[in-house]
Amino acid sequence: MRLSASLQLAAVTIAFLMTATISAHAQTINPVRMAPKAQMAPPQVVAQTPPMGWNSWNYFAGRVTDKDIRDSADQIVANGMKDAGYIYVNIDDTWEGERDASGVLHTNSKFPDMKALADYVHSKGLKLGIYSGPGPKTCAGYAGSLGHEEQDAKMYADWGIDYLKYDLCSFNQEVMQKQAPNDKEAQMRLMVAAYDKMGKALKATSRPIVYSLCQYGWDNVWEWAPGLGGNSWRTTGDIQASWQSVYDIMSEQAGLASYAGPGHWNDPDMLEVGNGKLTLAENRTHFSMWAMLAAPLLAGNDLPHMKPEIKEILTNPGVIAIDQDPLGHQARHIYSKGEVEIWARDLKGGAKAIAIVNAGSDVYSTHPFHIDLAQLGLHGTQHGKDLWTGKDIELTSNMPIELASHDILLLRIASPK
Ligand code: GLA
Repeated sequence: MRLSASLQLAAVTIAFLMTATISAHAQTINPVRMAPKAQMAPPQVVAQTPPMGWNSWNYFAGRVTDKDIRDSADQIVANGMKDAGYIYVNIDDTWEGERDASGVLHTNSKFPDMKALADYVHSKGLKLGIYSGPGPKTCAGYAGSLGHEEQDAKMYADWGIDYLKYDLCSFNQEVMQKQAPNDKEAQMRLMVAAYDKMGKALKATSRPIVYSLCQYGWDNVWEWAPGLGGNSWRTTGDIQASWQSVYDIMSEQAGLASYAGPGHWNDPDMLEVGNGKLTLAENRTHFSMWAMLAAPLLAGNDLPHMKPEIKEILTNPGVIAIDQDPLGHQARHIYSKGEVEIWARDLKGGAKAIAIVNAGSDVYSTHPFHIDLAQLGLHGTQHGKDLWTGKDIELTSNMPIELASHDILLLRIASPK
């Protein structure tokens, strides 16, 4: 009797201790999961505005190392980019090593310890992104995730990865074309299923990870990517650091505005601002138009050697505010006249952004451009701000607008009429 009473007491004590431990754990570590259903907080959401950060590919390509990522993270903090909103530091292709007998993918010698790298990036208040693809190989020929999707997703979550770029590449030749030769529709279904698989694998980790699809806009990706958890999707092939590439990609975005919104964005590819031979006007136009397009702003330049005038472009607060506007309304192409193009987007609080781009190779002052405000649904003098000079501007249909070749006039109109 005494024995059983003390056993009962022990059982009650253990049960009490367990409950106390669990509820303490629940309060400190994971209140969301333990809360009663009716009071559950919404799941953590990512990419409510277009993701901002930096990616290694456009400058380092296959040369990127752990040190380059750390140096870039240091720079983002030191040069003001973090304060301007750049948070994701994304490792692109070429970090991957070999899979071991258990299927675990190891890093290669350029990235000796991914967890330590993630900890370092997080210690700066930044987030770390990584790259893989649904095929057996990535675009640069490193190991892809085919057949290891859940295992890889779990490993990313264990490392503390916050963003995954998932690049089609060899899945096309090795799976789509082999399994469904001469059947484009069946190939597309295989592709969608592969992206769905990784979307589910990421979701199963419970870690908020931005899911960035990279399959160059095939099969109207903007129609199906949000449904499988995609936070952004490339709409085009690879960008190059040239005006032609920037201009072609920008033009291809016309017609896609309705697919963008909080949590899911068209991605016209990473920024080339500061790369190649882009002039300052071209860099300004590139950055402005990506902001107008509500595109992810992923810088891709050499941060430790960035020139001040490039930093000025990448950190322009008025332009970034257009990109990050909470409404998430991507710009529409309103009209073109000659080589001048007019784009506009609506902003929170009834404001509007207007971009006037001289895509021609001459200064437009020789044949001044006059904007037709009626085509923008506007009437009379509009009071706005020129986001590159910071000056107030009164915009009328009669005023001659002088734009250097490939330059832009980017205006924010607080109360359009
Ligand atoms: C593809 C992608 C690029 C880059 C490379 C890496 O070309 O479109 O953005 O990720 O692969 O190999």
